[in-house]
Amino acid sequence: MSQLQERFPDIQEGVLLAPMTTFKIGGPARWFLVVKDREDLRDALRIARKEEMPVFFLGGGSNVLVSSKGFPGLVIKNEMRALSVEGARITAESGSILASVVKAAKDNGLQGIAALQGVPGTFGAAVRGNCGVPNCETGDYLVSALLLDTDLEYKTVDRDYFEYGYRHSKLKGNGEIVVEATIELTPGGDPKEIMADMMSMLKARKAKQPWGKSGGSYFKNPSKEYSAGFLVDKSGGKGLSVGDAQISEKHGNFFLNKGQATSEDVQNLAAEIKRRVKEGFDIDIEEEVEFVGER
Ligand code: EPU
Repeated sequence: MSQLQERFPDIQEGVLLAPMTTFKIGGPARWFLVVKDREDLRDALRIARKEEMPVFFLGGGSNVLVSSKGFPGLVIKNEMRALSVEGARITAESGSILASVVKAAKDNGLQGIAALQGVPGTFGAAVRGNCGVPNCETGDYLVSALLLDTDLEYKTVDRDYFEYGYRHSKLKGNGEIVVEATIELTPGGDPKEIMADMMSMLKARKAKQPWGKSGGSYFKNPSKEYSAGFLVDKSGGKGLSVGDAQISEKHGNFFLNKGQATSEDVQNLAAEIKRRVKEGFDIDIEEEVEFVGER
């Protein structure tokens, strides 16, 4: 019996991850645990480390491609979701859905993040990955964050610590976890006007992007001059498919699961389009979507 089962009697084995991702792709997790508070989180990580088990921290499942072979360790589903508003600041736990933070801002007349309406995933993932849309990235508003470091100690850090870049922060490579974060917005807005902004930006995005099972933008934009969608499009990628994985006919940077696509289908499709873009433009496009699990 794993110590995980002793400490967490509700832990599940062999849970399929596909339904928990927006791509609807992904095999079983060896262990699957829903975590709602900090001490459970720390204990789970401590045991996994002791048992030399890989850990994957699942948020909204919106920016990941999970292997169809599954994940050979512990998947922790983050459901720590406390949220509070004080003046112009919102403090939320990392498992809060980003949309609930955007809504809290609107309800309190706080301006700045209306453009994040419709961006899927959790607040913690957005803080870690600097998620957003052009001219509105989560990191722009960050004041401080509570992290769990690699020694499983809590520490509070400020914005500079993250070394933010485009869809990037230092946390993407160092194994630290966002537990809670505080953002600061501009007070004094009218909730009705903020709502109207949210809706018009969402509408503009819906006009350009496909609905359907996808991981959002598949590649990062390589530069301001060249967007990945443009490069894929001009390389004849739109509509291209491998198995049930297809590049959207509407937008070149969206890969769709048309039914039973596997992670391998998606990766083979990505390899083909990367090759074409390299050949045509001599540019290496890189995945924004993170691959998780067994190759
Ligand atoms: N374009 C084409 N062909 C296509 C798609 C796009 O020529 O098939 C051209 C467009 O005409 C435009 C340029 O490429 O000139 C950029 O396209 P778009 O305005 O659709 O924006 P994007 O750079 O592809 C970014 C974010 C999205 C975000 C939108 C909001 C990245 C990688 N993507 O898309 O973020 O929703 O802006 O407008 O930064 C995500 O990160 O998951 C995501 C969806």
